[in-house]
Amino acid sequence: MWRQVLVALCLSLWICSPDLTLAEDPYLNRAYQLMSETPLIDGHNDLPWQLRMQFNNQLNKVNLDTLETTHTNIPKIKEGRLGAQFWAAYVPCETQYKDAVRQTLEQIDVVHRMCEKYPDTFKFVTTSQGIMDAFKENKTASLIGVEGGHSIDSSLGTLRTMYQLGVRYLTLTHSCNTPWADNWRVDDGSDPIQSGGLSPFGKQLIVEMNRLGMLIDLAHVPVSVMNQTLTMSVAPVIFSHSSAYAVCRHSRNVPDEILLKVKEKKGIVMVNFYNDYVTCSQKANISDVADHFDHIKKVGGAEIIGFGGDYDGVPRTPEGLEDVSKVPNLVAELLRRGWTDEEVKAALGNNLLRVMSEVERVRTQSTNNPGLCERCCNLQHLSMPGTEHRELCRLAASY
Ligand SMILES: *[C@@H]1O[C@H](CO)[C@@H](O)[C@H](O)[C@H]1NC(C)=O
Ligand SMILES: *[C@@H]1O[C@H](CO)[C@@H](O)[C@H](O)[C@H]1NC(C)=O
Ligand SMILES: *[C@@H]1O[C@H](CO)[C@@H](O)[C@H](O)[C@H]1NC(C)=O
Ligand SMILES: [Zn+2]
Repeated sequence: MWRQVLVALCLSLWICSPDLTLAEDPYLNRAYQLMSETPLIDGHNDLPWQLRMQFNNQLNKVNLDTLETTHTNIPKIKEGRLGAQFWAAYVPCETQYKDAVRQTLEQIDVVHRMCEKYPDTFKFVTTSQGIMDAFKENKTASLIGVEGGHSIDSSLGTLRTMYQLGVRYLTLTHSCNTPWADNWRVDDGSDPIQSGGLSPFGKQLIVEMNRLGMLIDLAHVPVSVMNQTLTMSVAPVIFSHSSAYAVCRHSRNVPDEILLKVKEKKGIVMVNFYNDYVTCSQKANISDVADHFDHIKKVGGAEIIGFGGDYDGVPRTPEGLEDVSKVPNLVAELLRRGWTDEEVKAALGNNLLRVMSEVERVRTQSTNNPGLCERCCNLQHLSMPGTEHRELCRLAASY
């Protein structure tokens, strides 16, 4: 009775609760079904940064069951069917050459403590198998990505130690040049070109990340670094939170020529929902975001797409995708646009799982076969004389 009244009200006033609309929308029902079979794996969420800004990382002051000042809390995670999340360990560029390493360690620490505080919701994992294990336990697999090369202070030892602490991707830059890699702002002229892409040390770092089994994240880098890394890396690479440049010509987005290289390399572009990268304006909606999914699929195929919402890292989110609880609406929109179940599942999680297993395979191969890296390095690579490259590979392999 009450339900009928509510439905009538809902239909006449268009103020529908999610539960009532759910029953009306077959695409949303299908989305929930697919999300129960394949984990939604999101590439980038800045909740740890919010914990630092709002609570100075004091988790005893935080209740994630009721927190209302963030895009992300536990009820929203459940409603959004968040299967796995790369939590960003981000610290601002202003910490470069100062205390970036300490602050990054504190962000890694807060992710570990968040998982310990809410063990029924989160499971900290570091492997593709771990993601599936957590999913089977109905928990959100929690991984760490360090956002910005300034966080390692030009030290491979620091990179390796962060790997030991569970970090599984490094975004090569944030929005500042490091001594060894240029950032995206050189492409719109707001920062000067410094390394012309990767410096020799930057190239050595790529080799070391392949050897370690750490995902290389090209969000925030300029096209020169995308080009050089895609050419050099033995393992596939990711864009943890970037959209399509052809749809919105912002330098944080990925141009078509690079999408083709990502496809060749069997990597992944996890679409960023930030209005300014979606429409190049402050207003965006779910259909604008779906346009990026359609475009990337058209250019590179459904096997190079993923989700990289950037929640809690941005001041504006699209209409219909306000917080992490809303992602199933986007999945439904893709189905409405004719995406097949297989394509949707690829984008939800299967693509990232494929990339991560391949990165793990390259790691195991180079552990069992120390010459492998050197052999890969014997290939001629763009913009680097063969001998210089071989020398760097030798250094990285023998560290
Ligand atoms: C996970 O949730 C599903 C659906 O609610 C349920 O059938 C299953 O038993 C749960 N598994 C575990 C390990 O709790
Ligand atoms: C990237 O590589 C492509 C060829 O693969 C080339 O056309 C393009 O100019 C390169 N861009 C940059 C910025 O290096
Ligand atoms: C989304 O916004 C675009 C303009 O960017 C508009 O054309 C479209 O109708 C909107 N769609 C929805 C579903 O609101
Ligand atoms: Zn970012």
